[in-house]
Amino acid sequence: MANPQIPTSTSLGNNEPPTCHGGLENLDEEHSYWIDKVEGTIPLDLRGTFFRNGPGRQRIGDEQYGHWFDGDGMLCAFTFAEGKVHFKNAYVKTPKYLDETASQSIRYRGFGTQIPGGLKANFLKMPANPANTSIMYHAGKLLALNEGGRPWELLPDSLDTVGEYTYDGALGRSNVFSAHGKIHQRTGDYINFGAGISGFGLRGPQACLNVYRINAAGEMAAKAAIPLNSFPFCHDFALTDKYAVFFINSIVFGGMGNVILGRKTISDQVHFNEQQPMTVHVVSLDTLTSVAQFETDPGAIIHFGNAFEDGDEIVVDGMYAGDFDANETLRDVFAGGRFGGGTYRRYRMNLQNKALGWEQITSTESEFPTFNTRKAGQQHEYCYTACSIDNGANSFFNGFQKVSFDGDATLVTLPPGFYGSEPLFAPSTSGHQEDDGYLLEVVYDAYEHLSELQIYRAQDPTERVCTLGLQHHLPHQFHGYFSEEVFI
Ligand SMILES: [Fe+2]
Repeated sequence: MANPQIPTSTSLGNNEPPTCHGGLENLDEEHSYWIDKVEGTIPLDLRGTFFRNGPGRQRIGDEQYGHWFDGDGMLCAFTFAEGKVHFKNAYVKTPKYLDETASQSIRYRGFGTQIPGGLKANFLKMPANPANTSIMYHAGKLLALNEGGRPWELLPDSLDTVGEYTYDGALGRSNVFSAHGKIHQRTGDYINFGAGISGFGLRGPQACLNVYRINAAGEMAAKAAIPLNSFPFCHDFALTDKYAVFFINSIVFGGMGNVILGRKTISDQVHFNEQQPMTVHVVSLDTLTSVAQFETDPGAIIHFGNAFEDGDEIVVDGMYAGDFDANETLRDVFAGGRFGGGTYRRYRMNLQNKALGWEQITSTESEFPTFNTRKAGQQHEYCYTACSIDNGANSFFNGFQKVSFDGDATLVTLPPGFYGSEPLFAPSTSGHQEDDGYLLEVVYDAYEHLSELQIYRAQDPTERVCTLGLQHHLPHQFHGYFSEEVFI
């Protein structure tokens, strides 16, 4: 059904470009087709499957979720093979998705969503896992991830849901698993974490980060709890060859009793404490113990780029924000608020003299960093970020940049009314340079309410190689993963 809120080129009636908000409308249908709307040439040295995940719907029946983070996970797969590209999308068939689809109403609590019906409807109900944040393919398993729960397994060729995934029971019911696990390049192991409670002491629950090491065969090889002073808001981490590095943000949880009792959502109870420094925990991958801690300015780093060891120093790239104002915008995604980002910082932490320093790499508002993951844990030369630029229509990411290690940036700006996404780097099958490959950028055309996949040459991102037009829009998503395996 057409939604009257979606602006079109004919309904605008003025010269203002449409905002990003039509790109948050539902895509309820599941599709599977070969893309025939092609401008340019599909690169023959791009072979594999580009998976993405994000909330596919923000409304159910007449009701709207209370936060962008609560929309149900919808996977997409663009499969590149022999000069053609196949597209498909499918929802993760969680109990939340199935029950709410059947009833056409909100039946589960979320990060910022209450079940209609007041206190009685929400009393002692835990938020559901919408499996909507990221996607990982490791050891033959395709997993949809959300930090509020355990992974959900899907089949990589059909995107059919298999079920919740526990690594043979190694993840217990309370063991949440972050959306930002990373593959350790030297071993092929998959490192992930989740916030948790490791026990109860005289001062109440003992908060911790559970850290998981899954070997290349997909077995839970080790897990350990890193004790913390308070329950962390920790979405992502940085990975070097020897260490996992966790920044505990200045975003704090308050009054969780009211959440449990059903009076408030988690989103209501998190706030930015500008007096609270960020703390950094450096965890050895060999022992899964914290081997160093640092403290730095108050802030929030939601997403990290690459990290590596440089002599005694650990170098970490991250997107820094000095507040958590974005949370307000995300509560009502159709209200017209602006979706912003942070700025690109590089931290250096010396394990010998315990000094910490940072520098700003670019001043452009940036989020969703990606890089050639073959360089993960080693010094990289390039990073790519989504950008928010004042181009006359600045309501969401509307560009991206390629940033050299020294901070030289090439900025690509989309036309007003077109909105971008995480620019995912996909390697060329034939190249050997770090930037031999492509940037995969899903773009929402707010004039036409359609989405397309734009493919840029990573060596020169001002060159758009190809544009693949979809038959519908794609709701703005969070994160993607490129597998060099061809799944159709
Ligand atoms: Fe994320």
